[in-house]
Amino acid sequence: MTTYSAQAATAVPVAALEMTDKITNLAYLVAALLFILALAGLAKQETASRGNRFGMAGMAIALVATVLKAVVASIDAGEDSSGPVVTLILIAVAMLIGAAIGIPRAKKVEMTGMPELIALLHSFVGLAAVLIGLNSFIHPDANAEAIASFHLGEVYLGVFIGSVTLTGSIVAYLKLSAKMSGKPLVLPGRHLLNAAVILVCLVGMGVFIWAGHANLTLAWIAMAVNLVLSLFLGFHLVAAIGGGDMPVVVSMLNSYSGWAAAAAGFMLFNPLLIIVGALVGSSGAYLSYVMCQAMNRSFISVILGGFGGDSAADGDERDYGEHTEITAADTAELLKNAKTVMITPGYGMAVAQAQYPVAALVAKLREHGVKVAFGIHPVAGRLPGHMNVLLAEAKVPYDLVLELDEVNDDFGEVDVVLVIGANDTVNPIAEEPGSPIAGMPVLKVWEAGEVIVFKRSMGSGYAGVQNPLFFNENTDMLLGDAKTSVEEINAAL
Ligand code: TAP
Repeated sequence: MTTYSAQAATAVPVAALEMTDKITNLAYLVAALLFILALAGLAKQETASRGNRFGMAGMAIALVATVLKAVVASIDAGEDSSGPVVTLILIAVAMLIGAAIGIPRAKKVEMTGMPELIALLHSFVGLAAVLIGLNSFIHPDANAEAIASFHLGEVYLGVFIGSVTLTGSIVAYLKLSAKMSGKPLVLPGRHLLNAAVILVCLVGMGVFIWAGHANLTLAWIAMAVNLVLSLFLGFHLVAAIGGGDMPVVVSMLNSYSGWAAAAAGFMLFNPLLIIVGALVGSSGAYLSYVMCQAMNRSFISVILGGFGGDSAADGDERDYGEHTEITAADTAELLKNAKTVMITPGYGMAVAQAQYPVAALVAKLREHGVKVAFGIHPVAGRLPGHMNVLLAEAKVPYDLVLELDEVNDDFGEVDVVLVIGANDTVNPIAEEPGSPIAGMPVLKVWEAGEVIVFKRSMGSGYAGVQNPLFFNENTDMLLGDAKTSVEEINAAL
């Protein structure tokens, strides 16, 4: 960490500089603690909004402290008095542009569009790390330590991580928003290609650190090679990953963006950025690990890609027979006579915004003495905790909302399962070796007495795999928009 007092000539009294340093460091410490409390709060539904408030307070403190530090630094460095004013104006303009783009976008975004927005935001963190890295190499004398080998290593690594995050996040955004095919891009010898790219980048790092002191042209060549190869690596790594693994990829990119921010923190000598980057990096990595476990996938096989691709059952042409349909009125009749009902919601419930009538249905059934619970798959919907957030929004009691592990052995004792807008997460083909989603744990809804599937068509789910559940004898399809169907059932009840 730099201290202003270490600088040679100062335009601001040393005591004032030291005081600013102490105030900003204290503010950074408070902000870091608030960020840790925010993460702890976000771990549970009951405390999530408090966690968000801690996070917002921490960010506000961090922003004020950083602006104060920047202004004092510019007073100290400036030959004329316009320096700090220009700094303040530039910061304000940057914040205004960011707010003008971000606020309308954030207001407009649907919950279902969050993963792609998050992926896009990660790409900005990557871009920022690249620009900070290049800038701190172009202006080495901006800081006395800039020529040190360690700093050159930070710059090179920051540009590497930032570039991988940048292009990887853009590809994730394009795949999630269906602007690019979700199928994995499988180039011949792709693992070898990735290994070669990493090796060349590592050699380039040695060249860059050596040449950074001795030969600027060579250093720039090494940096350019690093930039091009790491941009390609980010693209190639994520393009090789199929649709089914996208949830893990988004959280992995979240982790990368954290490390990119931490690298930027080292380059800018900003301790808070290092702490926050490390928090995001490690929590994102842990989330990726938890999600891999939930999907029964190894972390390495996700990174190496290929899941959800062209395996045997892809484009499954098998004839599963005829499906049977049911009306909302008949479903209401079935529910009236049931003792236990399990609801397994999925992405379609979010699209239809059916959580409110679903909450009303649950209340009605419970009034009639029917035992109701929700079985939530860890990757139901489009982002971790998606269904939990929707159900909490509709004020469904938390104790009715159970995880996959808590319900999966009990379906045999359930009279009626309502599959509301879920597809991949209830697909029995996951139990078939060689299928595109083989190994992914699924909710065993087919073991229940009766299964009603709410969806609009007989089409496949996110992974593009046909679902044999729809053709089972104990399955009836209630076709139509999920919200309308549930409202009709409520009316009939
Ligand atoms: P999906 O497999 O995505 O299926 C959702 C179903 O909802 C579709 O089959 C669709 O069928 C139906 N639907 C859409 N709009 C509807 C509406 N208005 N009314 C009624 N039904 C509607 O859902 P899932 O079971 O939740 O699985 C999630 C998938 O997303 C998994 O493959 C998972 O890997 C992936 N994913 C998850 C995440 C996270 S972290 N949760 C992130 C990215 C991707 P119709 O079109 O026929 O109606």
